[in-house]
Order: sequence, then C-alpha cells, then structure tokens
Amino acid sequence: MVYITRKATFSAAHRLYNPKFSDEENERIFDKCNNPLGHGHNYVLEVTVAGHPDPDTGYVLDLKELKAIIDREIIEAVDHKHLNYDVPFLRGIIPTVENLVVVFWRILESKLPSGKLYRIRLFESDANWAEYYGEPVEVKVQEEG
Ligand code: NI
Repeated sequence: MVYITRKATFSAAHRLYNPKFSDEENERIFDKCNNPLGHGHNYVLEVTVAGHPDPDTGYVLDLKELKAIIDREIIEAVDHKHLNYDVPFLRGIIPTVENLVVVFWRILESKLPSGKLYRIRLFESDANWAEYYGEPVEVKVQEEG
C-alpha cells in the first residue's frame, strides 16, 4: 500500500459555544474560544489516500485531481468564512478541530475516484491538531439556541 497526501490551507473564524449551556458554562468550558464574535485560525488540512499505484500511470490518485476535489468540496465552502454561520454542512455543529475532521471525512470519502481515504489531519495552529481515520464516531448537531 502507498499513501499519498495533499495539503491545503484555509483561514476561517469560529466560536466554540453550545446553546444548551448557560453563558457561564460556555465561558468555563470553552474559555477564550467562547469569545462572542469569534476568533480566527489559519488551518492546515492534510488529506491522505491509500492505494496501489496504477501500473500504467504510477498514480494511486492523481494529486492534481485530489487537490481539485479538496478545493471544490471543502476549501471553497470554508475559506474566509465563519464556520458557525456561513457553512451549510457545519450547521449546528460545534466547530472544534475534532468535529471538523469527521465532517470533512464524510464529505470526501465518497468523492475519490481511486484509492481509499486513509487519514484526515487538520491543524488549527502549530501546536493543536486532530486526525481521523474513519472509525465510527458521533458528531452531534446542536439545537439552535
Ligand atoms: Ni479556535
């Protein structure tokens, strides 16, 4: 098996907040990330696809094609957006880096023409990131507050 990775970047705002918690609880749990008007990150997204190189092209999946899929399905929707308000597929989802990798996986998994999605890694900063390998997890859609 060979693993290929395409990296993409986007900038976005978010606020960590759950409408079912009181203002005090939101403040205690999410601290600075609960800032009412949000705050921003320069995200780095890595998408890794596993497969066997095609005998005629040598490609698991043409990286140009992987770039185009990531741009079309993810980056165009999230870049320079507020993740809590502007992105239909994140509606009601607390936009932590953990939840984002799972949602991105679900979008990308079925869009690959060859190879198999292996890992999604998302850096929120140099020090903080999440990675996901597709095991079943729940991402809850919160009731609007
Ligand atoms: Ni943040």
